[in-house]
Amino acid sequence: MKIFVTRRLPLDLASLAPAGIEVVVDPRDRTLTQKEIVEAARDADALLPQLTETIDRALLERLPRVKVIANYAVGVNNVDLAAARERGIVVCNTPGVLTDATADLALTLILALARRVREGERLLRSGGFAGWGPSFLLGRDLAGATLGLFGFGRIGEAVGRRACAFGMRVRYTRRSGPKPDADAEHVAIDTLLRESDVLSLHAPLTPETRHAIDAAAIAKMKPGALLVNTSRGPLVDESALVAALERGHLGGAGLDVYEREPAVHPGLVGRDDVVLLPHVGSATRGTREAMARLAFENCVAVLLGKTPPALVS
Ligand code: DGY
Repeated sequence: MKIFVTRRLPLDLASLAPAGIEVVVDPRDRTLTQKEIVEAARDADALLPQLTETIDRALLERLPRVKVIANYAVGVNNVDLAAARERGIVVCNTPGVLTDATADLALTLILALARRVREGERLLRSGGFAGWGPSFLLGRDLAGATLGLFGFGRIGEAVGRRACAFGMRVRYTRRSGPKPDADAEHVAIDTLLRESDVLSLHAPLTPETRHAIDAAAIAKMKPGALLVNTSRGPLVDESALVAALERGHLGGAGLDVYEREPAVHPGLVGRDDVVLLPHVGSATRGTREAMARLAFENCVAVLLGKTPPALVS
């Protein structure tokens, strides 16, 4: 049986393969086109793709042997789940192992915005630091500020725990309502938008969450609030975000993901009140190795007729 991995991963999966299972890693080390995937994975029993590759109905129809898609990500918005289900293909992801790394990055963005890190860095490097001053580059206190979490799964909750340690008041909304034993207060979405000093997004991309933060939602946000997104870019209407920043309604934005990734809205690029990272939420060596191991274990389990450790559907 053959597992086709669309891109080199930071772990040698071939050395982990049990007898009877072959691992083929595409050597091109870039996002593959659908045509390239079809050609290279024609005889594969398992597909291990990247979040940048669209695994849709047309592609699945051309890969009749594939029994499992083990996405190298926790988000599965790049996979047509209904088409996979109809063809009896199991879909898996990599939850849990990237929780801490992604939560750390969300906090990085919150801290960078609150303390004007980008502005200070740029100013110093361009020779603009003339010495300490009482009113120089004043930022915001996180202690006492309200963090609103849009989505309260593993990552949202981990961000909440970190924010508590900084003295923030943590509130959240969640599709399935209040979470028992949560260390944060569940509120309605309108309350979250109206009362959060920092709004951080931690929901999956689905038809319901696409543009959840649009012009109407942004208009409800507290004037001067900060928006942080480490989930999926299309949760935010980037044009509406740029317009809100331009008119001064929002105080800043920290983004790791983009609506039309890897393109970034030109209205964001030159702004000092915006921190932009290149989708690196899970990008630590340990995390990416753990993601590779889990994705591989998902493939192997399905191929051996077992329940995979991270089954989506
Ligand atoms: C995920 O797993 O969905 C992340 O975006 C990968 O960094």
